[in-house]
Amino acid sequence: MQEKWRVMIKVLFVCLGNICRSPLAEGLFRARVGEAGLDDKFVIDSAGTDSYHAGQPPDERMRALAAERGIKLDCTARNLRKDDLLEFDYVIAMDQSNRERITRVHERIDNATSRIFLMRAFDPVGNADAEVPDPYYGDNADFETVYEILDRSTQNLLSFVVKEHYL
Ligand code: 4NP
Repeated sequence: MQEKWRVMIKVLFVCLGNICRSPLAEGLFRARVGEAGLDDKFVIDSAGTDSYHAGQPPDERMRALAAERGIKLDCTARNLRKDDLLEFDYVIAMDQSNRERITRVHERIDNATSRIFLMRAFDPVGNADAEVPDPYYGDNADFETVYEILDRSTQNLLSFVVKEHYL
């Protein structure tokens, strides 16, 4: 790990395929961090607990919706790696199933230091156990709902991290 990387705050968003929810969470969080003038403090990435879509760009429907709102999604889908749980400070799961899978990997690593959270633990609307619903087999309204949830949750996540690190 490069020295510069070591001192940065590292945030990883995780969903199933890494083509819908976590790329949008990554894009929105990156935009918020940029607006706050904190780009040089963060490493932001996303991953999927499955690899079916590894190597692919974000889902076209999610990309179009984000672009309409000025958010560019330019990640390439990848599978969650064991090392992610050594490298990232905050690992943010979109739903309970993602969280369980991340936790199973985390438990296999002796010195894993990542803290795992549910994305909607940061959503001011709804309860802390709520999930970001999977929109993949849904319609436009389902994608809109995911956008609204992630818009609120990523803003609140940034406030939480800013407070924790006295930024
Ligand atoms: P994501 O959505 O986990 O938000 O990227 C999905 C993408 C693909 C599939 C399921 C969910 N799939 O079944 O292929």
